[in-house]
Amino acid sequence: MADTHKISFEPVDIEMEVGEDETILDAAFRQGIHLMHGCREGRCSACKSYMLEGDVQMDDYSTFACNDAEEAEGYVLLCRTYAYSDCEIELLNFDEDELLGGAPIQDVTTKVAAIEPMTPDIVSLKLDVVEPESVEFKSGQYFDLFIPGTEDKRSFSIATTPATPDRLEFLIKKYPGGLFAGMLTDGLSVGQEIKLNGPYGSCTLRNGHVLPIVAIGGGAGV
Ligand code: FES
Repeated sequence: MADTHKISFEPVDIEMEVGEDETILDAAFRQGIHLMHGCREGRCSACKSYMLEGDVQMDDYSTFACNDAEEAEGYVLLCRTYAYSDCEIELLNFDEDELLGGAPIQDVTTKVAAIEPMTPDIVSLKLDVVEPESVEFKSGQYFDLFIPGTEDKRSFSIATTPATPDRLEFLIKKYPGGLFAGMLTDGLSVGQEIKLNGPYGSCTLRNGHVLPIVAIGGGAGV
């Protein structure tokens, strides 16, 4: 069993434990703490925070998300950061309402309900939620979908609203050579089981937001 350390987050005064074999972001999710995040792969900088104290190491990440000068100054990407001592970390970007009150991240079992081409390169994948019977999420979030029978996964935004928590739809762009693209063409059938994990993502509409919003969708446009 990996050694564990205590993480204190400022200025929100929240503490949690982290094992040396998990990132600080994953440890937070496991303990129901919804830190700000996006890609979870060290590429977007949404989880960038500042080390006040402690011994940490970061896995591979993009210097677009955290450049060398920032890293030298003490900035870290929590989705790529492993702790090797107790740490004190300043969150630069957080939503106090979400921190301890976001939708729980969980493993979900689904069955394929329909696979329909929407355009030559975009497919609608509809999944019936089997276990638990429904899922809680916010519009703008995404799930990790596992390739059946493997640990390989891909992240896709949810195209349906929380009004149908027992039926999820994903609009998937078929990139040439993409892992899911090939499976959608001739490897997946109605009734087949697909495991999900989530929901992830902090790009959601906040309660009380009043200003106009301009949204730009990439990929399949969701
Ligand atoms: S860099 Fe994107 S979530 Fe950490």
